[in-house]
Amino acid sequence: MTQDEMKKAAAIKALDYVEADTIVGVGTGSTVNHFIDALATIKDKIVGAVSSSEASTQRLKSYGIEVFDLNNVDGIDVYVDGADEVNAHMHMIKGGGAALTREKIVAAVAKTFVCIADDTKQVPVLGRFPLPVEVIPMARSYVARELVKLGGDPSYRTGVVTDNGNVILDVHNLEIIDPIALENSINAIVGVVTNGLFANRAANVLIIGSNEGAKIIK
Ligand code: 5RP
Repeated sequence: MTQDEMKKAAAIKALDYVEADTIVGVGTGSTVNHFIDALATIKDKIVGAVSSSEASTQRLKSYGIEVFDLNNVDGIDVYVDGADEVNAHMHMIKGGGAALTREKIVAAVAKTFVCIADDTKQVPVLGRFPLPVEVIPMARSYVARELVKLGGDPSYRTGVVTDNGNVILDVHNLEIIDPIALENSINAIVGVVTNGLFANRAANVLIIGSNEGAKIIK
């Protein structure tokens, strides 16, 4: 199987977690695009979706799936999203697609976070994938200096503006032994909107696509 076929296998399996007559939380990225395509096949069974990005909103709407404002829903049972890296504790690095802040907000609301990924995303220690940090534009240089003090090597993702009008710093060369502590430390830097560590809010279910198909890790 190609990597994309593995992503697709994991995405289709995630339909098992979608209950009838509910509003589904939808993440962002190429794996989630497969999930949206799969969700479209059962769109008459769900009420609609809450989306974590303009890109996912457009794709959902193109299928005629209603997209609700998060402020107008009482709750979300299931949030389905991809990851750039995931460890054995279901801690993740996310934000390769620059949608980390809205992803983290929707994930916070959801009762169950279903992470869908191909098996290349599984790692023993997070940090080989550069950690995305969303930053208020005027704070970019200050935040970069603070990230260096934390042991990282930040680089400015040029040409990228998030859906919230902010910029992204990608932090290289981190070996993240304590993801919860680092998530909290980076979020405490003034000017940081949030960072791509999802450790305080880890996934509840991990579906991995591999050559053997999709397997549920937990
Ligand atoms: C976007 C994300 C994505 O979930 C992550 O980048 C994985 O993307 P893909 O499914 O394309 O591999 O966090 O901000």
